Amino acid sequence: MELMHRALLTALGALSLFYALVKFSLGYWKRRGILHEKPKFLWGNIKGVVGGKRHAQDALLAVYADYKGRAPFVGFYACLKPFILVLDLKLVHQIVFTDAGHFTSRGLYSNSGGEPLSANLLQLDGHKWRSLHAKSAEVFTATNMQKLLPRLAQISTRIQSDLGKINQQTCNISELVGAYNVDVMASMAFGLGGQDHQEFAKWSSNYWAGFKLWQAYLALEFPLIARLLQYKSYAAPAMAYFQKVVLSQLQEHRRRDCQPLQTLLQLYSNADHPLGDVDIAAQAFGFLVAGLGPLNATLGFCLHELARHPELQDRTRLEIKKTLEKHGGQVTPEFLRELRYTKQVLNETLRLHTPHPFLLRRATKEFELPGSVFVIARGNNVLIPTAAIHRDPEIYPDPERFDPDRFEEEAKRSRPPAAFLPFGDGLRGCIAARFAEQQLLVGLVALLREHRYAPCAETTIPMAYDNRRLLLMPKSDIKLSVEWKD
Ligand code: HEM
Repeated sequence: MELMHRALLTALGALSLFYALVKFSLGYWKRRGILHEKPKFLWGNIKGVVGGKRHAQDALLAVYADYKGRAPFVGFYACLKPFILVLDLKLVHQIVFTDAGHFTSRGLYSNSGGEPLSANLLQLDGHKWRSLHAKSAEVFTATNMQKLLPRLAQISTRIQSDLGKINQQTCNISELVGAYNVDVMASMAFGLGGQDHQEFAKWSSNYWAGFKLWQAYLALEFPLIARLLQYKSYAAPAMAYFQKVVLSQLQEHRRRDCQPLQTLLQLYSNADHPLGDVDIAAQAFGFLVAGLGPLNATLGFCLHELARHPELQDRTRLEIKKTLEKHGGQVTPEFLRELRYTKQVLNETLRLHTPHPFLLRRATKEFELPGSVFVIARGNNVLIPTAAIHRDPEIYPDPERFDPDRFEEEAKRSRPPAAFLPFGDGLRGCIAARFAEQQLLVGLVALLREHRYAPCAETTIPMAYDNRRLLLMPKSDIKLSVEWKD
């Protein structure tokens, strides 16, 4: 009896301690006197997100809409983790550009000792990130991106041969664009020849195997302990495969060092102060993590919108065909530069379906907001709700409407500088934005030049998103009716 009594008391003590800890964590913004939405026990302000009932972007959108105009930022809790949610575009601009030196960290978990491929540009912070960023900036120059274009154009021809001369058949667009983007990633980031892409595709969709959200959450909260316990974010066999591929491709590249520069691997290895081979492998893997999902999503969303708006689709196709004709059918940098309307279509897709619905920063120094009493403390995590900004009716009237004219030069100039950030910007912006835009444009040219898309019985309208992902992805594969149109 006494034993039971003691057990009961211990359980009660543990529960009270747990309750007090949760209450203490969720009291952070109150103690700091910062305006915030009242958090729910355990879930903070993301109730429904963890269980997949709503998308993270909807949680951010709701708070943004309720509090915008009342303060430059509000306090926000992702479960027990406090974030600053920025509401004011001027402050966004300061954090991303003018005062970016205060916000050079992102605050993700990486463990270069136990999991070398996690030492990539996306996940690293601090001095390791700085030196890597300087070296990577030399790789992703406009001139280098042009050198990659011929190979990209050649890879994109698989889209037309995959589609062939089909006549109003239902096509799985997600698979089609996924195969193109995996091919580009395998060739450009990992240097693989065409024959090896099947295995690459398999590991590209499997490296999250065994991922547990609660473990990742604890690793983010307690990175030192996670590193001590050798917590790994990715599946070990996938990491071994990606590392092996890069090391052997680099060896091959050095054996035949007269190849034209056509991959990111070659560019990294030929730099003035090249990285070590494992570090190059980590970057290639980082590109896969950062790039593949958003590329697939963007091309899929774009075709979905064009299928629903046949007049915009015709206008885009006409521009592509006329410009191709002018350039003798060749996909060159000049040809891409002239695709003005097609670029507007891509930008409108990225606005309405922003693949990264928010940007993350961590304050590395205290930041006093100029001319106000507000302070962002050192170590505070910052959320910039890009998807909410992209759907703000005061910036983009009638925001749910797909309207590429919003990206005409004059319309763009009329908006504040931080009103469009699908690639982030500033020091920690997407290093590969130029590369990604090129890949999307070349993909779109191949998709539209000979084929026409329309909704079919299997098309989900309106678009439904996968609530279990932080990135914005379609809930199920996008399917459209496709017709060959010479
Ligand atoms: C539609 C395609 C893409 C979109 C929308 C996108 C968007 C983004 C965004 C929003 C960020 C965070 C920026 C910030 O915090 O300010 C980012 C970072 C990054 N992206 Fe992309 N990205 C795309 C494609 C790619 C591709 C293809 C690659 C690689 C080849 C890539 C490599 C990276 C890397 C390495 C970072 C981290 C940069 C750093 O922290 O220094 N991304 N991207």
